[in-house]
Amino acid sequence: MSELFLTNAKVVTHRGVFDGGVLIRDGKIEEVLKGDFKPVKGEVKDLKGKYLLPGAIDVHVHFRTPGQTEKEDFVTGSKAALAGGVTTVLDMPNTKPLIVDQASLDAKKREVVGRSLVNYGLYVGATLDNLEEIKKVHGACGLKIYMGSSTGNLLVDKKEVLEKFLSEYQGLMVVHAEDEECIEEGKIVHADEISRASGTKGDAKVHSLVRAPRCAEIAVKNLLHLAKKYGARVHIAHCSTMAELEVIKKFKDEKVSVEVTPHHLFLTDKDYEMYGNLIKVNPPIRGLTDQVALWQGIKEGLIDMVATDHAPHLYEEKMRPYAEAPSGLPGVQTMMPLLLNAVNEGKLSISKVVELTSYNPARCFGIKDRGAIENGYYADLTVVDMDLARNVEREFLFSKCGWSPFADWKLKGWPVMTLVNGEIMYEWRDKFGERAGFEVEYT
Ligand code: NCD
Ligand code: ZN
Ligand code: ZN
Repeated sequence: MSELFLTNAKVVTHRGVFDGGVLIRDGKIEEVLKGDFKPVKGEVKDLKGKYLLPGAIDVHVHFRTPGQTEKEDFVTGSKAALAGGVTTVLDMPNTKPLIVDQASLDAKKREVVGRSLVNYGLYVGATLDNLEEIKKVHGACGLKIYMGSSTGNLLVDKKEVLEKFLSEYQGLMVVHAEDEECIEEGKIVHADEISRASGTKGDAKVHSLVRAPRCAEIAVKNLLHLAKKYGARVHIAHCSTMAELEVIKKFKDEKVSVEVTPHHLFLTDKDYEMYGNLIKVNPPIRGLTDQVALWQGIKEGLIDMVATDHAPHLYEEKMRPYAEAPSGLPGVQTMMPLLLNAVNEGKLSISKVVELTSYNPARCFGIKDRGAIENGYYADLTVVDMDLARNVEREFLFSKCGWSPFADWKLKGWPVMTLVNGEIMYEWRDKFGERAGFEVEYT
């Protein structure tokens, strides 16, 4: 029986912060301990006043397995996660081949098992003709529906098919809500700018015009009308605009959950000048008004969680002219540092960070015994040094893609130790454990 005491910590829950620690036994939190306590046996780690958070659960990553492992795989992706204080990831199905039935899901599981250093769940994806098959699938964390085309070949752009999924599928549907017709229209209206867009970084800004806020608003409206009509459980991926939030406000109940990405919280369209195609992503980076609305949405509780949409592509691919550069950017390693830095800047509380990155993701996705520091829960834990101020250094980016728009940003507040299932799997700055993570279970 292995025992480990973490002592002298500031324990953070979604409700508040208290002095104490935890006793970990056989991978689980045996006991949450308050105040000063003297362990009598077992191994002891004195956290010296650092913060102890439940490990972050990122419900939206693309680790590119199978088929695009030149961009990322579960070893490199999960290392980036660990260094970013993320202990569980839910991985998207827009791979090669697509994960759209039981056979492809099972094949992916065989490829991932034993490789991921963090815990994981896997999505299946909806197509125009797989509803009957999808209804029979077991062992997925949710069903991904693309209403608008993005990277990869998954798309449900027929309203009748979308309606059938919402009326008949019983599980959780995670939706990329951008209206395909609206995007196609945007491409026609801005055809000249797109063809003129060359290598100049600022040219990438046309992406925000092509996929205008209106496209997201239309899709979210259509989606939530249908969800309400059929009582479906939907999760809106990467909400990025004020207009979406206004629709969401009207429909929000326990059957609707909402995520926002770090890139929409921390970048605006002014940043194209600096980063060009590196920040070409779907839905696009928006203007300041939308960014402010997202922070307000967090404050008001309209937004349930932050998820990264970690979508790495190779640097060479991103350096192509605008029209040929793929959409998506990495984020799983930088989400927590960005949010912790925001805590230090007074933008939100550290308890709110826990609510947004672990408590709510676990609750909304029904992830069993994770997402909180409680007796009997898995010891998925992140130790945070709120006084550590460091640049995001390129040589310590563990994603296979090797770049980040947040490289060189100076951030204060960093994960310095990450435990997964009771095992110390990461220590500042590049020390990793070897034990594989588990596939999560659902309540
Ligand atoms: C994602 C990708 O690259 O897989 N790209 C993106 O721009 N977000 C796909 C997606 O989630 O839409
Ligand atoms: Zn998406
Ligand atoms: Zn995505």
